[in-house]
Amino acid sequence: MKKIITLGCDHAGFEMKDAVIAHLNARGWEVLDVGTDSADSCDYPVFAHAACKNIQRGVCDLGILICGTGIGMSLVANKHRGIRAAACSDTFSARLTRVHNNANVLCFGTRVVGIGLALDLIDNFLDAEFEGGKHERRVNMITEIENAEK
Ligand code: RB5
Repeated sequence: MKKIITLGCDHAGFEMKDAVIAHLNARGWEVLDVGTDSADSCDYPVFAHAACKNIQRGVCDLGILICGTGIGMSLVANKHRGIRAAACSDTFSARLTRVHNNANVLCFGTRVVGIGLALDLIDNFLDAEFEGGKHERRVNMITEIENAEK
């Protein structure tokens, strides 16, 4: 897997953006930052959409989306074909959503987790690997449902 990851945030997520980018860079990841670039109020769907497009276009395989709760970002991301986004606030879920769900986008909220836990969520997400097997069958079922939707 190429070590390129896309990152999107809204004004609530912006406060953690620099620390998250520094952390990812220190781990050897190139970050494709789609904004936002200030604490001015903005609309999270814009940035979730831009990040998901980077994944859909094959520019990168993974993404991180940060808003106030992580929920709005995950709702938008999961509207995109091929995107499996998980809003996490504990490291077990951040790890298992890759191991079992083959999630490709991690979402979290700055109003839910502190920066220390946020970076641990990222580490758990990035260090985990999809287990395949019975989990692949289930993820394929998600894709089938997605493909059956208009
Ligand atoms: C912005 O106030 C907030 O609604 C947003 O960051 C996010 O938490 C939405 O899910």
